[in-house]
Amino acid sequence: MPGTEMCFTLNTGAKMPFLGLGTAGLNGMDLILNTLDDAFQLGYRLIDTDASYDNEKEIGYCLEKLLPKFNLQRSDIFITTKLSPTDRGKRVERGIMKSLRHLNCDYIDLFLMDLSCTQTGNSEDDARLRNLSWAKMVEAVKHKQVRQIGVCNYGVEQLEGLLARCRGVRPSVNQVEFHPFYRDRKLYDVCRNAGVFMQAYCILGCSKWCKMLRNEHVLKCAHELGKTAAQILLRWAIQQNVGVIPSSRNVAHLFANRQVDFVIPRHHMINLSTFDSHQRIGNEPEMIHVLQRFQSE
Ligand SMILES: NC(=O)c1ccc[n+]([C@@H]2O[C@H](COP(=O)([O-])OP(=O)(O)OC[C@H]3O[C@@H](n4cnc5c(N)ncnc54)[C@H](OP(=O)(O)O)[C@@H]3O)[C@@H](O)[C@H]2O)c1
Repeated sequence: MPGTEMCFTLNTGAKMPFLGLGTAGLNGMDLILNTLDDAFQLGYRLIDTDASYDNEKEIGYCLEKLLPKFNLQRSDIFITTKLSPTDRGKRVERGIMKSLRHLNCDYIDLFLMDLSCTQTGNSEDDARLRNLSWAKMVEAVKHKQVRQIGVCNYGVEQLEGLLARCRGVRPSVNQVEFHPFYRDRKLYDVCRNAGVFMQAYCILGCSKWCKMLRNEHVLKCAHELGKTAAQILLRWAIQQNVGVIPSSRNVAHLFANRQVDFVIPRHHMINLSTFDSHQRIGNEPEMIHVLQRFQSE
């Protein structure tokens, strides 16, 4: 990773930027090429995707075009992707090979398994599928197809279960919804004590939730520090050693989101951490298989 990037050292010793580019909903070659071109130009070095976002191929094409343009090597970029539910269990290797092919890479820096990916509606089957998928991900680390493995949306119970049966490879990251209106302090402590890096999604409220960017406390803090509401939300997480992957297709936002090398004073940090912390934007991971069943009926 370039020396100027704010990085966290993962439990493997690898460096991972605190701030990356989320790509959910970023589809279509022109949009992806323009966004990644702007992002690399501005210094973004982490890309977060998912086999299910349907943009890995385009990202792979952009890497081929843009790395030489910015005089970057593959090793300068940190790529995260995630297991598709269709490749869970015995099919994990197939999923990883597909992502490698699409992303045009020899290795993936971080490969994540989402809790919802292994949900069947039966908790014993779920646990078995999680264990089997993890075992296959561990094999992929041994075969050097992926450098780090981790999880998304794991709660305390699932994470502790995984740590107890991780087959010698501990999860490096737990990517979860985390922002002033939704934060699980116990999970935060478990991650921290176990050396699992917490990475926040929906840190700006996604596109559907403007409440955070318009919150009076966030705006007051922003006004006092001469920052934007988005910068306060991003910095609030980073200041707690939590990574962020905001998505944006707007170059002014992409630029502003990287200007987070400032300090939020303690009284504002406390104030921003006293909101009702149970207002989740995404679906409860435990509910996803139920929703999928309803949608398919
Ligand atoms: N593992 C999981 O379960 C999971 C779930 C959800 C998301 N994710 C990952 O996390 C990433 C981030 O989540 P997200 O994209 O849902 O939500 P987000 O980053 O919280 O919000 C993105 C929205 O914020 C706007 N925005 C960005 N910068 C802004 C700024 N400076 N000022 C005002 N608005 C701004 C963007 O609009 P503009 O385009 O106009 O800037 C976009 O509509 C995803 O892209 C994905 O990679 C993971």
